[in-house]
Amino acid sequence: MNNLVDEKYTMKHCVIVLLIIPFAKALEPCSDYSTITNEENRSPFHQNSFSDTPISDDRLTPGWYRIEMNTGSLIPNQIPELFRCGTWNPIWLNGTLPSVPEVRVNGQVCVNTFNSVCEYTWFINIKFCCGNYLVYELLSSPVEKSAYCFGNSSNGFVSSKDNTIGCYIVLIRMT
Ligand SMILES: *[C@@H]1O[C@H](CO)[C@@H](O)[C@H](O)[C@H]1NC(C)=O
Ligand SMILES: *[C@@H]1O[C@H](CO)[C@@H](O)[C@H](O)[C@H]1NC(C)=O
Repeated sequence: MNNLVDEKYTMKHCVIVLLIIPFAKALEPCSDYSTITNEENRSPFHQNSFSDTPISDDRLTPGWYRIEMNTGSLIPNQIPELFRCGTWNPIWLNGTLPSVPEVRVNGQVCVNTFNSVCEYTWFINIKFCCGNYLVYELLSSPVEKSAYCFGNSSNGFVSSKDNTIGCYIVLIRMT
């Protein structure tokens, strides 16, 4: 009799754990990310000279990234010129960054090449995290000598106290 009760109890726990794990996984990008640090050359204001080794995000490991640079951390949503962003073919966002905490957007990125400002294109996830930072789910580029641009851009990104407060409201709602 006692055994039966124990089994039921264990089963119940098991179901609860199975339900919680996928939910917890979905929250990870804001804490479980890699970082791109001290690559200030990724700014659209930085111009590479021919002797500089271009950053090549065709070798980037796909995953969630937080950008930590003196020049800022936002991907520009205006077209950077060729040879900017520490590379030959800059990657920019043809879209809008998330401005609401805990919101994740799926944005189109474009590679500016000699042929077209958007010759190659794909979609990346961008999430606004509590603490006022973004994380980007970056894929490797299909093009050699191309790199994601970050920093020195003021593209309508909202970063205020209000958003931090909003963050707590969202978190309370979720619990
Ligand atoms: C880019 O950011 C750096 C660091 O904040 C600053 O020193 C530099 O003047 C900025 N460049 C432009 C063009 O805004
Ligand atoms: C940017 O995206 C819009 C649709 O959202 C599209 O119409 C436009 O052609 C894109 N711009 C470029 C340069 O590809």
